[in-house]
Amino acid sequence: MSKTTNRPDEWKIEQGLKGAVLPVLDMTGSETKELAPQVFGELTKDKEAIAAVGDRDKLFTRERKGWVGFVEWENYPEKKAAAHKILTSQTFPPNPEFQLGPIPDTNPVLPGTHWKMWHHAVGGELTKIPDDSWDLVLKEKHPDMLHLLQFPYNGEPPKRLVTAKEVTPNPLHFVRNHGGIPIIDKEDYSFTMDGLVKEPRSFTLDDLMDEAKFPRVEKTVTIQCSGTRRIEQILKYPGQGDEVPQAPWAEGAIGTATYVGISLKKVIKACGGLVDGAKHLEFYGADTYFKDDEVMNYLVSVPWSKVKANEVLLAWEMNGEVLPRIHGYPLRLVVMGYIGARSVKWLYRIKAIKNPTRAPVQSKEYLYFPQQVGKHNLKMTDGIQIQEMPVSSAIMSPWTKQVVIHNGKIRCKGWAYSGGGRWPERIELSNDGGFNWYTVPPENMSKKRKWTWRTYEFDLPCDVEGWVEIVCRCWDNALNTQPPDVRTAWNWGLHVTSSCHRISVYSVNKTKPLTKARLDEFEKADIPFGPITVPLQFPSQTWDEYEKYWQEHDPRDAADEI
Ligand code: MTE
Repeated sequence: MSKTTNRPDEWKIEQGLKGAVLPVLDMTGSETKELAPQVFGELTKDKEAIAAVGDRDKLFTRERKGWVGFVEWENYPEKKAAAHKILTSQTFPPNPEFQLGPIPDTNPVLPGTHWKMWHHAVGGELTKIPDDSWDLVLKEKHPDMLHLLQFPYNGEPPKRLVTAKEVTPNPLHFVRNHGGIPIIDKEDYSFTMDGLVKEPRSFTLDDLMDEAKFPRVEKTVTIQCSGTRRIEQILKYPGQGDEVPQAPWAEGAIGTATYVGISLKKVIKACGGLVDGAKHLEFYGADTYFKDDEVMNYLVSVPWSKVKANEVLLAWEMNGEVLPRIHGYPLRLVVMGYIGARSVKWLYRIKAIKNPTRAPVQSKEYLYFPQQVGKHNLKMTDGIQIQEMPVSSAIMSPWTKQVVIHNGKIRCKGWAYSGGGRWPERIELSNDGGFNWYTVPPENMSKKRKWTWRTYEFDLPCDVEGWVEIVCRCWDNALNTQPPDVRTAWNWGLHVTSSCHRISVYSVNKTKPLTKARLDEFEKADIPFGPITVPLQFPSQTWDEYEKYWQEHDPRDAADEI
């Protein structure tokens, strides 16, 4: 017998359990050709070219006293060019595959290898940032946080803590960073307001805190990342695979906090107002962001109409505490009802401009593509720039694949949210995949507020036993509701998973006499019920009962006679 040509994991590969190694099939010719997937070659580094760029400590030095980790890129095209030269003069190892391959069993889940390497490669003030940022995570965040990406830090609370409180405690609020965390001294802090304003100027925190000039605003606001619940899209079909935009978020990339600050509108007024048809405000964060071998600060913009409506805050306090460093200390933006991406942290500049910013975070990311867009045909203009999140909801308890023993009702907990200042008006749960719906009574929902989520608890009636699909959906005050399935809203960028949240649980209904009797037997014999896949150690019917049944019923096969 000749030797096998199969790989040891051939069956898994055939079954799509290792999609990354599957050959691409080219069916454009008369014969189908197999195209081997990309293999990464040797790493290269042009040391001379890198050395020729100059002294990195001098080139990429700290921009301001008291601002550790802040390199200003936007005013220095030559500095950007130098960093670009360094990044393009070497290659970096590929990121581990986590969509078509396994997600590691670790916390941090993904290390962010590229991002650490890029920071080290550019060097100067960026060198220590990955380590400093991780130290801050350990200091400021709850020990139970799920660190989806170590650097840039992206973390969410575990399900049991997401909705434990209506207002999220600071250490449990999710964090979504695109770069390191700048460590800024309050005394040295100021930001600049320039561009198309009458009188450009800088503001210190003391200026902003002067209540005679700026009335103080306190607002409870839910911030949601448009990547929330992305894991459902990944588990269905993988998409764009960059480690940072695509951290495998579950239902926890949403948090609610009470912020104290002032309305940005008043600050613009203090600059004499806008001039020359300014229609947008561009916000600059002090962290460094990498995209396509280019280096920049975190930049996005928001339309003036939003600012004019007093829906954009400059905030320095979060839940009665000084804003944590990881959430933007000393000053961040809070844009009510928009995706979290617009709520810029570590703000160092605001610029009034005519058109929405062309910065990559806004033009190349946070885009909602139609279904037929992928790496082969992606055009940035095909994506809708995500601004207000549509209505969405999630079940935080029980968890999918869990066995639930109950008395005819399954205790469910979760959240619902709608962007743009709309709020959850009705939350519904189904135990049969979305055929019949039960309304959560308003008294089981947290307070209705214009800019926040609502948490809920509900005992969902469930008569049947076995695998049931529990589904949650919300109707907001504009009567918008959620698409039924992940598939209907799947998109290449894996954003906005707003479809009805579906979980599968195994229902064991103890109000059924037989089930109760069996569960009592399990208990008496001290045999744990789970996992359900473990075979029974004692029969559920005696042979006498079995015989009795057949004496009272027709035999297995129907008689072929009249
Ligand atoms: N601001 C800066 N400077 N840098 C960032 O990476 N991330 C944005 C936004 N502001 C980001 C930022 C994104 S995508 C989100 S969802 C929110 O911050 C998250 O805010 P949080 O980390 O305080 O929860």
